[in-house]
Order: sequence, then C-alpha cells, then structure tokens
Amino acid sequence: MNKITAAITAVGAYVPDFVLTNKILETMVDTNDEWIITRTGIKERRILKDDTKGTSYLAIRAAQDLIKKANIDPLDIDLILMATATADMPVASTAAYVATNIGATNAFGYDLQAACSSFLFGMSTAAAYIESGRYKKVLLIGADKMSSIVDYKDRATCIIFGDGAGAVLFEPNYEGLGLQDEYLRTDGEGRDFLKIHAGGSLYPTSIETINDNLHNIVQEGKTVFKFAVTNMADACELIMKRNNLTNQEVTWLVPHQANKRIIDATASRMNLEDSKVLMNIERYGNTTSATLPLVLSDFEHLFKKGDTIIFAAFGGGFSWGSIYLKWAYDKQ
Ligand code: COA
Repeated sequence: MNKITAAITAVGAYVPDFVLTNKILETMVDTNDEWIITRTGIKERRILKDDTKGTSYLAIRAAQDLIKKANIDPLDIDLILMATATADMPVASTAAYVATNIGATNAFGYDLQAACSSFLFGMSTAAAYIESGRYKKVLLIGADKMSSIVDYKDRATCIIFGDGAGAVLFEPNYEGLGLQDEYLRTDGEGRDFLKIHAGGSLYPTSIETINDNLHNIVQEGKTVFKFAVTNMADACELIMKRNNLTNQEVTWLVPHQANKRIIDATASRMNLEDSKVLMNIERYGNTTSATLPLVLSDFEHLFKKGDTIIFAAFGGGFSWGSIYLKWAYDKQ
C-alpha cells in the first residue's frame, strides 16, 4: 500500500452578519479610514453581536457548512480539533461542545491554542493523526470571537481584529497529495509583546485586574510587525528551499491575514506574483485562528488538484511557521 498522506478534502466557513466598517470605527476611536487602509489593508470586519453566543457558535456554523457541502455524516468524524484563542470558557473544552452540537457523537475533541498560529499548528496535529493511520476523518476548526477580548477604546488593536470561523476536513490520501512539509517555531521571549495580561494562572482575575483593564488583548504593534515580517518570510523561504520549490512552482500563498504589509513582504521575499497571493483581509480583518480556513473557503473555487500551496502564519507567543501542502481535489 502507498504511504498515507493527510489531505484536505472539504472546507466550510462562517462569518457573522454585522459589518464593522472603518467608518463606524471612526465614531468609536480617534482613527480614520485612510490610515487603517494604508497601514493594514483592512476595510471592514465581521462582529458577532449576540452577547449570549461565544466562539463555539461560530465554529458550529462553519462545521455545519462543511458537513452540508461535503455531504458527510457527522457520526463518521473521529476527532475534532478546535484551534482558538478565545475558547468559550477556561477549562471546559470548546471542542467537546462543538462536537456534541454538530452531532459528531462518535468523535473526541480538544482545543489547541497558539494565538494566530493555532490553525497552522492544528494542521500539523491533524495531519499527524491521519498519517499514523489511527483516524480517518479529522475535522480542524479555526474560530475566534476576537470582539470578546478587544478593547474598543484602544485604537492600536480594535481596528485590526474581527470574528469568524472556518473548518477543514483532513482524510487519508494515497496519491501523495496533502501535507508535504512543515516548519513550525515558537519563541517565548515574545510573549509580552502580544497578550492578554490577566485571567490566566499567572495573574488570576481579581478586582484589581478588572479595574486596571487587564483582560483585553494588547500589543506592541511595531515590534510584532517587525518579528512577523521577518519570521513569516524566513519560514516560507526555508520551506521553498528545502523542497526545491521555485516561485513558478508555487501555485498559491495562503498567509495569515494580520496586516497586508506583512503579507506583501512575505510574498516579495518568495518572489511571487500578486495573483498567487490570496487575501481577504480587507473584508474580515484579523480573525486569528480563522484566517487560513476563511481564505481557503473564499478561494476554493480556484484550486485545482495538485496545486502547490504554501501556508504561513505568525502570532502571539511568539509562534510562527509555514506549511507546504498539495491540494487534493477539483471543486465540483
Ligand atoms: N488610527 C490612527 N492613528 C493611529 C492608529 C489608528 N488606529 N493607531 C496608531 N496610530 C498612530 C500612532 O499613535 C502613531 O502616532 P505618532 O507617530 O504620533 O506616535 C502612528 O499612528 C504610528 O503608529 P505605529 O504603531 O508606529 O503604526 P504602525 O505603522 O506600526 O501600524 C499597526 C500599527 C498596529 C497597524 C502595525 O504595527 C501592525 O500591524 N503590527 C502588527 C500587528 C499584528 O499583526 N498583530 C497580530 C499579530 S498576529
């Protein structure tokens, strides 16, 4: 029998209806549409307005979209990996709740957190389960309700983030398609540059942490930008070299959507023409764990069996990396 590789065989997505435009943000903080577009490339983002719903709601909708489109029986799903930085609650696994609510009652599931690299690292985890031969259907969901941790008085962060979810199904492939190689890295020296200060075990929630507004995401934008540009570009260059891939042989770049300038710098290092660089940042902003599957969902119609796709991400921690994958199907 041929070696088992782990292929993406279906994609689903969900974004909430409410559109938070730059114009609306102008009424909330001291900013303007032109600054946001030129500095980030973002025009609008989606926000889950319902306070009674958490990240699981977004994840369930994305998973249901995939299940419907791919016409799979949720009972056949073996494992649900939930990539998220905004779990519904601490401790109780969001993946468990999602699995039950989509009818995947034969599956087990757990959450996987590596900030904006959660989905990229989740691809590696999902692929390892498939390649081992242990499981046949692994559902990887990337979902974040970033609006639940954004301070809408902080213009340095509130302009960037949005809510959304995407899901992919990993299955065994015997033609050599799917995940080919990965380069994944972390550097704990970076943790103070992009974080939520309190609410974890180091600084548990207290009256003081609430009064001091320490439960929202904060970042030192310039430092994050510098590390993101260098590391994402380095990772992509390395994975291309290691696999003897020329810029002509790369069909698509699927990058984390944090800032258009970071994506442009990465694409430029790879020497890729613009038409190969997939972006939807202008419509969704940075949805953290959902950026990569939302790109896959928006551009799935362009992909052909055998296409060479390079994924790249950078996030808090710091965490970053690149994955080389061969697309496994033509869209019907
Ligand atoms: N609107 C208008 N002006 C703003 C602003 C906003 N929303 N946010 C910051 N500014 C101002 C700053 O106060 C500063 O003014 P000053 O020169 O008078 O001090 C000026 O714009 C430049 O600020 P700076 O932070 O240096 O801008 P920047 O070019 O680095 O862009 C980010 C800011 C946040 C867009 C950019 O640093 C970035 O994208 N960083 C990476 C963030 C990221 O990717 N995070 C997630 C990682 S997964």
